Amino acid sequence: MRVKQLVKRAVIDALANQGYSLERMSELGRLADLHGSDKGTRMSAHRYTRVYDRLFHSLRSEHITFVEIGLMRRESRRASTGTDGTNPVPMNRAPSLEMWRNYFPNATIFGFDIDDFSSVKIDRCAILRGDMSCVDDLRRLTQAVGGPIDVLLEDGSHASHHQQIALGSLFPSIRSKGIYLIEDLHWQDERFEKAEAVKTKDILRRFQVEGVFVSQFLSQEQQAYIQDNLERVWLFDSLTSEVDDSTDALAVLIKK
Ligand SMILES: C[S@@+](CC[C@H](N)C(=O)[O-])C[C@H]1O[C@@H](n2cnc3c(N)ncnc32)[C@H](O)[C@@H]1O
Repeated sequence: MRVKQLVKRAVIDALANQGYSLERMSELGRLADLHGSDKGTRMSAHRYTRVYDRLFHSLRSEHITFVEIGLMRRESRRASTGTDGTNPVPMNRAPSLEMWRNYFPNATIFGFDIDDFSSVKIDRCAILRGDMSCVDDLRRLTQAVGGPIDVLLEDGSHASHHQQIALGSLFPSIRSKGIYLIEDLHWQDERFEKAEAVKTKDILRRFQVEGVFVSQFLSQEQQAYIQDNLERVWLFDSLTSEVDDSTDALAVLIKK
């Protein structure tokens, strides 16, 4: 581990020991750690649950529609993800869907992943297989959901053009005042990233400052829709110790 990462880890641990680690007390942090999602407080996890706990608190008992893109991290299969999705081994767990199912007792939950999760059975959760960079697959997803989405969490390939294509296709299906989240804006797998792609976090920072939304991967109509219907954007850091720069890793988009 590099010195900078060790220092970061030591600072996080020191804060936690002094009681500053709010996510330690959170129900979502506990559930993320319990089910094995990397959103929680485990060593090297992102600790996004510190944000989600506040964001979702008032929605917890509501009959919301919750969608998550990207269901499980598997280091050994990274080479196959985001390309052709031909991995023949069906996944048998979806940790983050288990966590959402436990946190939101009345929610209807949809999962979407390029890999085969057909063997995963979680009550109140439906899982579709598809590629987040394919507009036809994304259309199948919105048709399956069949109505406005209250919360959509995108934790898929992390490639900038995929993030923007998914946002362009799915943002119209978000309910008014609904929430669209994008995780891991700080890290792109160089095997899938297009050299010419403007990073999604730079596009969102520009929206914060100038109020304009520009993506080279979306039509004029899609860009105008996002610009006109995006009420606000918040960016939060990941607290992972795995990389040096994890600032502005999580985007929270609120629809008008
Ligand atoms: C970081 S993991 C998701 C972790 C999970 N949400 C959690 O918190 O435990 C990323 C997932 O995205 C999926 N993925 C990668 N490329 C994708 C694509 N183009 N479309 C849909 N899913 C994709 C991978 O198969 C993998 O399961």
